[in-house]
Amino acid sequence: MMTGETGMKRRNHPSSAHRWLHVLAAVLAVGTVLLIAKGGLVHSAGAGLSVPDWPNTYGENMFTYPIEKWTGGIVYEHGHRLIASGIGVLTIAVMVMIWMYDDRRWLRVLGAAALVAVIVQGVLGGLTVLMQLPTAVSVSHAMLAQAFMIATMLIAAATAPGWNRVKQPESVAANDGLRRLLLATVLFTFVQILLGAITRHTYSGMAITDFPLNNGKVIPDFTHFGVMIQFAHRVGAVILTAMIFTQGIRILRNKALSALRWPALLSIAMVTVQFLLGATVIWTREAIVPNTLHVAGGAITFTLVFLTYARAVHFYRFVGAEERHDGVRLQGMKA
Ligand code: HEM
Repeated sequence: MMTGETGMKRRNHPSSAHRWLHVLAAVLAVGTVLLIAKGGLVHSAGAGLSVPDWPNTYGENMFTYPIEKWTGGIVYEHGHRLIASGIGVLTIAVMVMIWMYDDRRWLRVLGAAALVAVIVQGVLGGLTVLMQLPTAVSVSHAMLAQAFMIATMLIAAATAPGWNRVKQPESVAANDGLRRLLLATVLFTFVQILLGAITRHTYSGMAITDFPLNNGKVIPDFTHFGVMIQFAHRVGAVILTAMIFTQGIRILRNKALSALRWPALLSIAMVTVQFLLGATVIWTREAIVPNTLHVAGGAITFTLVFLTYARAVHFYRFVGAEERHDGVRLQGMKA
C-alpha cells in the first residue's frame, strides 16, 4: 500500500496547504493519544456513568452545558465528550484537506475511513453510557480508539515532508524475517492492548493482587475468568517486551536502517516504562495516576511499533540472503 505511491501523480497544489495538512494531521494524532488517556482517566476515576444521558448532558445541549455544573466525575466524563467532539471536527478538516490537496488514493480512502471510525466511535461511546457500560461495547470503544489512532498516525506520517521525499524504497540487506517480525509486533501489540481492555472492562484489575508473583504462585489457580484474562495479559507483556527488544536490537545492529533507529529505541524505552507502569498499577492497587498512564502508555507503545513498521515498509526494501545476487552490494550487507 505505502510503497505503491511511487510514481504517483500529485495534484499541483500549493505547498503551504500541504504543510498545513501535515500540521493538522499531527495535531489530530497527538490529540487522539491525549483523548485515549482522558478516556482512561474517566474509567480509572470510576466516572463512566457520571453523565447518564447521551448525546445530551443532563438533558441540556452538551456544548452549552454550564461550566458551574461541572462537578465531581462530570468533569472527567463531560470533558472527554467535548475533547472527542473537537477530535471529530479535526478529522473532518483533515479529510477535506486530503481530498483537496493530495492525490494518493490510499490516503484519501484512509482519511474517509478515519472519519467513519470517529463517528462510529462517538456512537459506541454514547451506547456504552446508555447501556450502562456493557463489556463488549466498552472494549469495542477502547479498541476502535486504538485503530483510529493508528490511522491518524499514518496520515500524519504520510503527509510529512521527509516521507514524501522518498521516491523509491532503498534496497537493504536486512536479516531475513525482520520485516515479518516488525509486522508481528504491531499485531501482537493490538492483541496485548485487547487483553488489557478486557481485563479493565471486566473489572479484573485486582483478580491478581501481587507482582511479579501471581496470587503467590508462578502460575496462579485459575479460579475465575478475571485471573485467566489478567494472567494472559501478563504473559503477553513478557512476550511483547521480548519482541520489541529483539526487533530493536536487530535494527540497531544494521547500520543501513538509520530511519528506523529512533522509533526502535523509543519503542524499547516505552515498553520498559509500560511494563513498570503495569506493575505499579498492581502495587498501588489501581491508583488513578499509574492506571491512567498505563492506558496512555499502551497507546504510545502501539504508535511507536506501528511507526517502526510503517517506516520500514516505506523507506526500505528488505532483501534476504536468497535474493542477493552475486556482485550486487546492498546497504548494510557485510563484506
Ligand atoms: C508491557 C506491555 C503492556 C502493555 C502494552 C499494556 C497495555 C495495557 C492497556 C492499553 C490497558 C488498558 C486497556 C484499555 O482499557 O483500553 C491495560 C490494562 C491493564 N494492565 Fe497492562 N500492559 C502491559 C503490561 C502490563 C503488566 C506487566 C501488568 C501487570 C503486572 C499489567 C497490568 C494491567 C492491568 C491490571 C490492567 C487493568 C487495569 C484496570 O483494571 O483498570 N499490564 N494494559
